[in-house]
Amino acid sequence: MSDLQNDPIDTIKRRKFLTYSLRTLAGVWVASLLYPIVKYLSPHNKEVTVDVSEINLGVKELAPGAAEPFAFGPKPAILFKTKEGELKAVSAVCTHLGCTVVHKDDLSAPPIPAGHKGAGFFCNCHLGVYDENGKNIGGPPPAPLPEFKVTVAENGDVTVSKS
Ligand code: FES
Repeated sequence: MSDLQNDPIDTIKRRKFLTYSLRTLAGVWVASLLYPIVKYLSPHNKEVTVDVSEINLGVKELAPGAAEPFAFGPKPAILFKTKEGELKAVSAVCTHLGCTVVHKDDLSAPPIPAGHKGAGFFCNCHLGVYDENGKNIGGPPPAPLPEFKVTVAENGDVTVSKS
């Protein structure tokens, strides 16, 4: 054995270093376990819900049959213009289980189940189909997409509101 291995001072220093290292690692490990629990229980962790009842989308010039998604507060919605030129808006939250629906120019194209035609809305989660007014016409959705009120100001600003 070398002199270095038998030196009692070196042995004590190594033992202290190992003790501090293991204690530090144990502390980090315990902190990593406690952090998510403390964060979950923290009163500052509550989800903030913002109830938006009206939103100004600015000037929107959509062609007949075109659509544009927008955020109505925390929820998705779709502004669209019917083939007749009427500007409408519906919630894009599927009335089945809450997936986001998309606007489709042609409901006869795959993956939409056969038997539908024209423009409308489609939910890819369980193949839910809505007509161009948001009425549920296929798949599991139990109700139409909620419709919002759309007003166009003199300066062209489009405002969508819940009532
Ligand atoms: S969530 Fe839309 S069809 Fe099921």
